[in-house]
Amino acid sequence: MSSTESGYSRKNPFPATLSVNRKLTGEGSNKDTRHFEISLSGSGLDYEVGDSLGVFPSNNPALVELVLKELGFTGAEPVTTADGAPAPLRDALLKSYILTEPSKQLLQAVSERDSSGAFLANLLLPEEKASLENFLWGRDVLDVLQEFSAARFTPEEFVKLLRKLQPRLYSIASSQRVVGESVHLTIAVVRYGVEHSPRRREGVCSTFLAERAESSVPVFVHTAKHFRVPENPDAPAIMVGPGTGIAPFRAFLQERQASGAKGPNWLFFGEQKSASDFFYKDEFEAAIASGALSKFTTAFSRDQAEKIYVQHRMLEHGAELYDWLEKGSFFYVCGDAKNMAKDVDAALHSIVEKHGAKTPEQAKEYVDALKKEKRYRKDVY
Ligand SMILES: Cc1cc2nc3c(=O)[nH]c(=O)nc-3n(C[C@H](O)[C@H](O)[C@H](O)COP(=O)(O)OP(=O)(O)OC[C@H]3O[C@@H](n4cnc5c(N)ncnc54)[C@H](O)[C@@H]3O)c2cc1C
Ligand SMILES: NC(=O)c1ccc[n+]([C@@H]2O[C@H](COP(=O)([O-])OP(=O)(O)OC[C@H]3O[C@@H](n4cnc5c(N)ncnc54)[C@H](OP(=O)(O)O)[C@@H]3O)[C@@H](O)[C@H]2O)c1
Repeated sequence: MSSTESGYSRKNPFPATLSVNRKLTGEGSNKDTRHFEISLSGSGLDYEVGDSLGVFPSNNPALVELVLKELGFTGAEPVTTADGAPAPLRDALLKSYILTEPSKQLLQAVSERDSSGAFLANLLLPEEKASLENFLWGRDVLDVLQEFSAARFTPEEFVKLLRKLQPRLYSIASSQRVVGESVHLTIAVVRYGVEHSPRRREGVCSTFLAERAESSVPVFVHTAKHFRVPENPDAPAIMVGPGTGIAPFRAFLQERQASGAKGPNWLFFGEQKSASDFFYKDEFEAAIASGALSKFTTAFSRDQAEKIYVQHRMLEHGAELYDWLEKGSFFYVCGDAKNMAKDVDAALHSIVEKHGAKTPEQAKEYVDALKKEKRYRKDVY
């Protein structure tokens, strides 16, 4: 059943249960990346590989308590949630409002209520946009309340200055043909330190799933019609998925294997260290052994002195990669949008130029044609 038929959607998320929360990164890793399994049992929700799962997180109760303490509230004060429903302040701060990045409205209100607020008021001027961004980098609502502690609010005034907590999307890492009423995710848990404070910072949703989501996880399916396995089961597929970008390709492989698709699959995976960051190693090795994975190319960036990334491996295998494209292969990329996807795109152009004996303009036309034919598909974030 689609989201609409099941009755569950972003507006009416399904209260799912988390059944598996397993670390993929091992000892010595710089990361905490995890494999999650969420049960959709009883929801009637269906998804297709390529779709994402939307997850509504709750804030960390410890952070909520610090905010309540800073403002001198008990948490029992009645307020209105971002959806307009009445709730005790503690519940509203847990489930309804953003406590990470402060809103401009909060900064404005604080600047008017604290004698040193002129500094903040200045940052809010249009010409100070870059300074404001710089100030906000790594600063949350509690930081602002602590740094401008003379600012006082009523509970209702305070929540009106906060923005609504939003769901996060995660690429689905499983095929329902294989896992049934379940959905698998591959998530990098966001935790970091900031220079101006000893308090450790954390991503809301990734830590919610990693640490606080025992009972109910409100979820919905986010359809991604642009990011499907090749419609032709015989077509080859090249998949480039470093880091958590591997997630949808694990799903693609499950789907193509379970549906008996004969098209060859070539997976590029990259992470920092092979010893600690080789996600799903056993599964991919089994897929090679069974023939489900025709080629598997890895790029471990920190196994040697110089960085080796997926695009370097693509270039090394350029002649073969071009040959796959010439044979009608689809080309998929998932993961970091800021750097990786751009560098992979540049490598693809170089390969077409070199191995197709084309000028840069002709290589661009070739890649544009791939996009037009919907053979070049991206899911980057
Ligand atoms: C279509 C799509 C698919 C996705 N799929 C996946 C997936 O499969 N796996 C996955 O892990 N993620 C995926 N993401 C990303 C995911 O949605 C979340 O953005 C991610 O998990 C972070 O959410 P969070 O709530 O944990 O962190 P948030 O509370 O949103 O905090 C993240 C923010 O913290 C800040 N921050 C982070 N590091 C630092 C630092 N060092 N210093 C200062 N500030 C910092 C940044 O402002 C950053 O935006 C996907 C995103 C999209 C749009
Ligand atoms: N919005 C968010 O809050 C959020 C949360 C989580 C992740 N993300 C994004 O999602 C991405 C995925 O994170 P992740 O931990 O799964 O993996 P990642 O940071 O993308 O790292 C995976 C591998 O890619 C390498 N890499 C770094 N720069 C690269 C480039 N320009 N081209 C190719 N490979 C490159 C890394 O090497 P090195 O580390 O050795 O350089 C590592 O080996 C992050 O980069 C981040 O942008 C966003």
